[in-house]
Amino acid sequence: MSRITLSAGPIARARNGVIGKDGRLPWRLKSDLAIFRAVTMGKPVIMGRKTWESLPKKPLVVRTNIVLSRDGSFEPQGAVACEDFSEAVQIAREQAEEDGRDEICVIGGASLFELALSRARRLYLTEVEAEVEGDVRLSAIDESRWREVRREAHPASEQDQYPFVFRVLERL
Ligand SMILES: NC(=O)c1ccc[n+]([C@@H]2O[C@H](COP(=O)([O-])OP(=O)(O)OC[C@H]3O[C@@H](n4cnc5c(N)ncnc54)[C@H](OP(=O)(O)O)[C@@H]3O)[C@@H](O)[C@H]2O)c1
Repeated sequence: MSRITLSAGPIARARNGVIGKDGRLPWRLKSDLAIFRAVTMGKPVIMGRKTWESLPKKPLVVRTNIVLSRDGSFEPQGAVACEDFSEAVQIAREQAEEDGRDEICVIGGASLFELALSRARRLYLTEVEAEVEGDVRLSAIDESRWREVRREAHPASEQDQYPFVFRVLERL
């Protein structure tokens, strides 16, 4: 097995599974963005084309950004385009190896997260303690195959619209 861990997330979901609305995040959670940044910093990240488009600042800095699209002519500036998930994982692994990193992260959206879930050894999940409206949802995760190794509760505050729990799970 490779010494480089494939991780699903970090990804944040509401109680009703919602992760996105109108091509954006459906909440303002500054502390969760800080966690996202800390977890992914320096590591290759894989994302879908719509998540790429949703980024206010592209690419995510100090991370190799790998963007999946079935459109062979798609050329994201400052990122690597890829048409196949397994190939994206391979590119990310090679980049991590070159950079001396031990993890690659699949950061969404919904279909990529689900593709990653079946292969990932680690899962970073922010549980947003709210039901929110949106147009992109994650399916329920079968947690019987995972064990929680970290859990941090964050209250709502001026900078965080809802309370949330940041969780790290590892495959059993
Ligand atoms: N809450 C969170 O943590 C979080 C995280 C990420 C994203 N989001 C939100 O989720 C929304 C975007 O996510 P989404 O699920 O709609 O879209 P997405 O997964 O980011 O992008 C979907 C696109 O990725 C490409 N793609 C997907 N699977 C592929 C495959 N197997 N092979 C090749 N290309 C593939 C296709 O691009 P083409 O159409 O170009 O072929 C597809 O249309 C936004 O609202 C964003 O803000 C939330």
